[in-house]
Amino acid sequence: MDDRQFVNHRWRKLTYISNAMINKYLHLFYEILKINFAYSAYLNFRHFGFVGLLKMPVIIQYGSTISCKSKNGLSFLKPLKLNMLKIGYGNKIEVDKGGKLQFSGDKACFNKNNSVSVCNSGIFEIGQNFWANTNSDFHCKKRLKFGDDVLIGMHVLIMDTDYHPIFNKQKEIINPDRDILMGNKVWIGSNTTILKGTQIGNDIIIGAGSIVSGKLLEDNSIYCGNPVKHVKNDITWCITHPDFWEARKS
Ligand SMILES: CC(C)(COP(=O)(O)OP(=O)(O)OC[C@H]1O[C@@H](n2cnc3c(N)ncnc32)[C@H](O)[C@@H]1OP(=O)(O)O)[C@@H](O)C(=O)NCCC(=O)NCCS
Repeated sequence: MDDRQFVNHRWRKLTYISNAMINKYLHLFYEILKINFAYSAYLNFRHFGFVGLLKMPVIIQYGSTISCKSKNGLSFLKPLKLNMLKIGYGNKIEVDKGGKLQFSGDKACFNKNNSVSVCNSGIFEIGQNFWANTNSDFHCKKRLKFGDDVLIGMHVLIMDTDYHPIFNKQKEIINPDRDILMGNKVWIGSNTTILKGTQIGNDIIIGAGSIVSGKLLEDNSIYCGNPVKHVKNDITWCITHPDFWEARKS
């Protein structure tokens, strides 16, 4: 490489790096513009007092609402710090009096247009590095428990209740609400429905459009379809897209 080529090469590299940096800061700037600071401050103060106001663990964008009937309806098990829960545009989170939405990690995100409904008897427990993409519905009347590194695709429906009782001849209810329990590193593909009583193990992918009811407990597996079937074993996966946190490699 002669001197001229060398200078050209360095110049191109420098331009590339500065463009990438400009894009990164522009993106950050737009993200900041979307934050509803007044509402975020109100929520943090209401649920966590002055410490919450100072540390702002919940960051909420315009067009989203969190309605918790009781102050302890929203809680973090880890010490409070900035941006532990990011609520993007168009999310609606409702926690009835007595219900609980609890985060055991310090990174969680409801991206866009998701809806969460926790009834007065419900407890929704979310682990570290939770990411719900767009247009998903979470209905919790009893218990939803997600481990760490759970990724929810688009248009997913998760409900631990059928909402309407079914009776046998003895007038007993035959479809009680049942816990939904997910392990660590679970990726739920788009348009999946997860029904009451479902248990999912660790490092598992549920294929797009699956209907899940029952126990999918073989770790490092892919399950797909309706009814859901085991299709692959000895797999692992990782989050590569969300810039919200660095994917945890294992
Ligand atoms: C689950 C998934 C990741 C598996 O991908 P893969 O490892 O490349 O799987 P393959 O395409 O080799 O399919 C393996 C088998 O499962 C079947 N299968 C795969 N996905 C399926 C699905 N969603 N429903 C039903 N069957 C499915 C295939 O037909 C194939 O069956 P066969 O062995 O009888 O031919 C992929 O199929 C999928 O569903 N992707 C969607 C992910 C998503 O929703 N992302 C949104 C962003 S979060």
